[in-house]
Amino acid sequence: MPIVEASAGIVRAATELQAGRLVAFPTETVYGLGADATNGRAVAQIFEAKGRPRFNPLIVHVADRAAAELIARFTAKARRLAEAFWPGPLTLVLPRRPEARISELVSAGLDSIAIRVPAHPVAQALLRAAGLPVAAPSANVSGHVSPTTARHVEADLGAKAAMILDGGPTELGLESTVLDATGERIVMLRPGATTREAIEAVLGEPVGGGGRSTETGVADADVPPAQLRSPGQLESHYAPRARVRLGATDLRPGEVLLAFGTPFPGAEEELANLSPSGDLIEAAANLFAALRRLDATGAETIAVMPIPESGLGEAINDRLRRAAAGR
Ligand code: TXA
Ligand code: MG
Repeated sequence: MPIVEASAGIVRAATELQAGRLVAFPTETVYGLGADATNGRAVAQIFEAKGRPRFNPLIVHVADRAAAELIARFTAKARRLAEAFWPGPLTLVLPRRPEARISELVSAGLDSIAIRVPAHPVAQALLRAAGLPVAAPSANVSGHVSPTTARHVEADLGAKAAMILDGGPTELGLESTVLDATGERIVMLRPGATTREAIEAVLGEPVGGGGRSTETGVADADVPPAQLRSPGQLESHYAPRARVRLGATDLRPGEVLLAFGTPFPGAEEELANLSPSGDLIEAAANLFAALRRLDATGAETIAVMPIPESGLGEAINDRLRRAAAGR
């Protein structure tokens, strides 16, 4: 049984994260399933463990704002929110720094990144001991409720985490509030443990999203509803400029190849290979970076070799199908 009492397990848990394995840990909101955010294969394992049929972007957890500033750019408003609510149950979606070493899979290929500084002492100790940004969704199987005890995590994910740090029941039991803080207007993407009223009190202005504002009491006209902006729910994912042709068994004029496994003869040039050995975890880790690289060649069409629907193949194919339908 991989449940370990937290104070006895921090050092080993940090080592597991550094080695690219998954660690479940308590935060003040719910338990998270963590992986080294700079390691694409480790992040891919999160999606496999949760059985998510889609690559929703994940929240990166860091120990303090200084660590967050290395990953994302803060506007003055974003900085004010961070100063008021971190550490605590608030997630800020911010423009991702291009030089940040975070895996593209964490943000599902988007140019933005969701970051939070958890307040729980075990989460803080783990982040400091690991010295890594940790990508972590709630530690439940996709579609189940978020876990608030180590036992819930074990029941849902069992042996899929190398370790479950037991820090007792979580204090809040409700996920963090997610704010889009990329622009001048702050928009709520997901209501959560930090209230709209508290956020508006800090900003001194209403927050968009959620279909209402405390100032007007009516739906905002100038911003799309939250679900149109949150890639977790809808289709605002990174979309390649090039056309995407799926199930390719040949290469046609104007095409570059996105291979999986052994490429067919004559297609060795200008290709990216998601996984030469046909490993779906490796393929998931490479997907978004490979799409960007091929898109940047200026080719008209990206031809994608067939990818099995099993395991992570379902999420990979879901993403590719939406890219193919996108234009
Ligand atoms: O309290 C919490 O936030 C917990 C603990 C473990 O920290 N985590 C959590 O993660 O609830 P998850 O993966 O279950 O939810 C992340 C939310 C999703 O709604 C996702 O769409 C949104 O954050 N999100 C992540 N990155 C985003 C981005 N770049 N743009 C917009 N939304 C993003
Ligand atoms: Mg969740």
